[in-house]
Amino acid sequence: LIAGAMSFVPMTAMAADLTIGFSQIGSESGWRAAETTVTKQEAEKRGIDLKFADAQQKQENQIKAIRSFIAQGVDAILLAPVVATGWDEVLEEAKDAEIPVVLLDRTVDAPEDLYMTAVTSDLVHEGSVAGQWLVDETAGEKCDIVELQGTTGSSPAIDRKKGFEQAISGHDNLNIVRSQTGDFTRSQGKVVMESFLKAVGGANICALYAHNDDMAVGAIQAIKEAGLKPGEDIKIVSIDSVPDIHLAMANGEANATIELTPNMAGPALDALEAYLADGTMPPKWIQTESKLYTLKDDNMAIYEMKKDLGY
Ligand code: AHR
Repeated sequence: LIAGAMSFVPMTAMAADLTIGFSQIGSESGWRAAETTVTKQEAEKRGIDLKFADAQQKQENQIKAIRSFIAQGVDAILLAPVVATGWDEVLEEAKDAEIPVVLLDRTVDAPEDLYMTAVTSDLVHEGSVAGQWLVDETAGEKCDIVELQGTTGSSPAIDRKKGFEQAISGHDNLNIVRSQTGDFTRSQGKVVMESFLKAVGGANICALYAHNDDMAVGAIQAIKEAGLKPGEDIKIVSIDSVPDIHLAMANGEANATIELTPNMAGPALDALEAYLADGTMPPKWIQTESKLYTLKDDNMAIYEMKKDLGY
């Protein structure tokens, strides 16, 4: 057992006997939709009865769903937490009921003994890969950047901002001139980009950093409607690697993306099955890969390959 870990009582259960609750944030992005699809597929493949609850972007709905899973006596809970704070009480309740909780794709600001493991990418690293890409791309030339942040208070919005800022710090040619949340949605990405273009002037914006691809895709539309060429007049780097950003890259309308796998459930269910079978405790963090794609890649082929995967 990991020091300080909760004392779950392992039980002998085959996957086919397992009932697992999944509290999903909602469907704000193509990436999120793919994660939902993959999680359902992974559960079905293993004969797991997955109880799915869509929180419509609200933490209070997630807390209600977790309480309902506890009342139903599920074997485990998967939680993709919309924001980082405010989880201690309900996670304590799950711990008291001896139900292991696995975090998917986002982290929480709560004591580590309140959850079994977190399956996430290195969110700070993703931001720094985006920042380093821009450092290399601009090669010392002055570049004013606008930033579309993810959902306020969510760990990817906090960490992707931090990583990007760390990577560009010390490069005086690079400055973030506007930064605002677009809530990880395509529609808000467009609206906020329109306001950036108005406030700063399209000719004064050299690059857009968006915390996810969906906001970048919305922003691309706004840039086109303003009579500018996305990818050329304004360079675009974002995160997720959803099919539509690869299509935009194939058309020269976006420049780089960092891949986040939607398959968080595979490693999460592996860990839960092992634990529930014989008590094997996973590491506190199961890290997924972050791969950079640029215009050097065959983006049309990647688009074709990904578009049928549930995005
Ligand atoms: O937590 C992962 C982020 O949440 C994805 O990058 C974004 O698209 C999603 O909504």
